Amino acid sequence: MKGLVCVLLLLETFVFAVQQQLDGGLSENEISPQLSSEDRRQNPPQNDTLRTETSTDSQQNYQLCFPDIHAALRELTAIVTEQKANIRALETQLKEQHTFILEELNKKNEERQIAFSAALMQTAGGTIGPFTADITLTYRNVFTNIGNAYNRITGIFTAPLKGAYMFRVSLYGAGSHSTRSTVFIVKNEERVVVAHGHQAGYAVNSSNGVVLLLEVGDVVYVRLSSGRWIYDDQNNHSTFSGYLLFPL
Ligand SMILES: *[C@@H]1O[C@H](CO)[C@@H](O)[C@H](O)[C@H]1NC(C)=O
Ligand SMILES: *[C@@H]1O[C@H](CO)[C@@H](O)[C@H](O)[C@H]1NC(C)=O
Ligand SMILES: *[C@@H]1O[C@H](CO)[C@@H](O)[C@H](O)[C@H]1NC(C)=O
Repeated sequence: MKGLVCVLLLLETFVFAVQQQLDGGLSENEISPQLSSEDRRQNPPQNDTLRTETSTDSQQNYQLCFPDIHAALRELTAIVTEQKANIRALETQLKEQHTFILEELNKKNEERQIAFSAALMQTAGGTIGPFTADITLTYRNVFTNIGNAYNRITGIFTAPLKGAYMFRVSLYGAGSHSTRSTVFIVKNEERVVVAHGHQAGYAVNSSNGVVLLLEVGDVVYVRLSSGRWIYDDQNNHSTFSGYLLFPL
């Protein structure tokens, strides 16, 4: 029975001490005065004899169970204080890691945003070709160039990362006499797909598209075949577009 009382007393005191620590963040040194003032509150200099007796009983019990209850408390308090500091340090560490991961993810996502679209003519309309050799077309009227992988001066798209890319070309042939319009989508040096039209009447349209697996640094562009022409004006008939479907 006495053992049980002791354990209860210790438990009560410990809970109280921990509570004080959590509420007020008291240091180890502050806990003792705090406890004695609590004692005073429970034993005010008044006429309540019953209370005084109870309180005296408690003190006796404390002394019987734990001769150095304050030392034990100070030890417990020190442990709690230390654990609190540890938790704070961990919290700070976690926050820092969280911020770092978010920044890295954002960087990765930005790297993966690759899309461009451009029409052939920037200002005045007209026909390009025919020439005696194939030429690389430079689509100057750029609508979008997210990730800057397309170069409007050279007409060349360069893959910034390995992945599956979609490309599309659309051509319009127009002029006063009959001729053919032929362009190829080229990967590195190799022709991949053709868009072709034989203009019998006034105009001809053709288009094609392809999904390509590109390594970093692979280039994709459009070539106009020798002896063929292509037309464009402010209506943006002839276009070249591409975008990353997904990285690999
Ligand atoms: C004595 O105690 C009674 C009840 O506990 C209280 O009402 C009274 O005011 C007290 N008297 C003094 C002088 O403190
Ligand atoms: C080709 O497409 C243009 C629009 O880009 C259209 O005006 C023209 O009529 C089309 N020509 C033919 C032959 O379909
Ligand atoms: C062609 O592109 C230019 C420049 O982006 C734009 O001002 C114009 O409205 C476009 N023409 C058509 C028919 O969409």
